[in-house]
Amino acid sequence: MKVYRAHQLMMRSLSKVIPFPRPKLLTGAGCVSELADHIKQKGLKRVLIVTDSVLMGLKLLDTLTASFDKHNIKYTIFDEVQPNPTIKNVEDGRKVYLKNRCNGIVAFGGGSPMDCAKMIGARVRNPYMSVQKMRGLFRVFIPIPPFYCVPTTAGTGSETTIVAVISNPETHEKLVITDFKLVPKVAVLDPELMVGLPKHITSTTGMDALTHAIEAYIGHNGTKFTNGNAEEATKLIFENLEKVYHDGSDLEARSNMALASFYAGLAFTKAYVGYVHAIAHNMGGLYGVPHGLANAIILPHVLEFSAEAAESKLASLAIAGGIGKSTESERELSHRFIAKVKAMNENMSMPTTIKELKESDIPLIAKRALAEAHPDYPVPTFMCQSECEDLIRKLLP
Ligand SMILES: NC(=O)c1ccc[n+]([C@@H]2O[C@H](COP(=O)([O-])OP(=O)(O)OC[C@H]3O[C@@H](n4cnc5c(N)ncnc54)[C@H](O)[C@@H]3O)[C@@H](O)[C@H]2O)c1
Ligand SMILES: [Fe+2]
Repeated sequence: MKVYRAHQLMMRSLSKVIPFPRPKLLTGAGCVSELADHIKQKGLKRVLIVTDSVLMGLKLLDTLTASFDKHNIKYTIFDEVQPNPTIKNVEDGRKVYLKNRCNGIVAFGGGSPMDCAKMIGARVRNPYMSVQKMRGLFRVFIPIPPFYCVPTTAGTGSETTIVAVISNPETHEKLVITDFKLVPKVAVLDPELMVGLPKHITSTTGMDALTHAIEAYIGHNGTKFTNGNAEEATKLIFENLEKVYHDGSDLEARSNMALASFYAGLAFTKAYVGYVHAIAHNMGGLYGVPHGLANAIILPHVLEFSAEAAESKLASLAIAGGIGKSTESERELSHRFIAKVKAMNENMSMPTTIKELKESDIPLIAKRALAEAHPDYPVPTFMCQSECEDLIRKLLP
């Protein structure tokens, strides 16, 4: 464990000195049509728009494509991205990019299209490196083509992170690829695109953003910058997520959630995530459980496991989130924080178990989750195989 902490300390020192690229931010209702200007300035001849068939069916891309037509920007649409995108999705998108001689990429959608687009760009420029070979830290050698992100969920923060998560259906694993080169040039936070998000996707993606903020904050690698962003994200999520769950057309609350997701992304891209994500990624890889849903269900259990080690930080986050005062004891505040997370889940009708989970898979899930978390994730306190299995057992239907 000391070796893990030494590794994390090194990563923390590096993250303080290395400048992380940050996208330029466009915000406000209808801002998606401003993206064309930025692409025009870059002089791109044809862009690949990476999205999914649901968003195509909802005609959500119409404003974007109309603005491209108006600015005479040519585009090809690749809409075959699946939730929890696969290596095949990346390779298919790469073929379409090359066939149509594109020279830029616009991701339009949730984390799945954004991550798939990142890796299409990485594969286009690094043809000798497979997705599997780029797994891990800083293995995208040649920069991706000019890249732009339009998130349509307020959750993953992929529009600002150095991360892409791709599923390998052969091994049922999620591959995490981490590189500065995966950050887009511009991120478009347009609340109008999120108005039609179904309730269960609003809630689960919102809880993903909250998990990013919490894991970045209670881990050992927080800095002033990441803690500030995690605090702001937590406050915004506490104030807006349930509101927008009940009234999806509340544009102000949608804007606040989009910002919260972005801030949480800024926090975790530097300070990492923790066991919630390590376990959730494996629920996604093995059973295809949506990422935010897995996080929402797992989060209270990991917080309870870490409650003592993270007491002081959970207490500060409770105060920052507006649910406590500094005159109260840390124990009281940290318990209230965990209770708040549970209440949010309950108020948004979140299940408490993972219906696909099988007892016989638990040892493998725990083994893979710990292999993902150690040594990179600066968790408040370490978990061993049997503790992880016991925690996962609580999620059995
Ligand atoms: N790169 C990162 O930093 C990062 C961080 C966290 C998670 N992830 C990854 O992101 C993926 C999950 O992304 P997600 O949670 O955003 O979900 P998603 O992109 O898989 O979308 C979920 C569903 O919501 C639909 N949808 C999206 N926007 C909509 C809208 N505005 N209106 C109606 N329907 C809409 C999609 O069509 C899809 O069916 C996972 O693969 C996860 O591992 C990446
Ligand atoms: Fe996440």
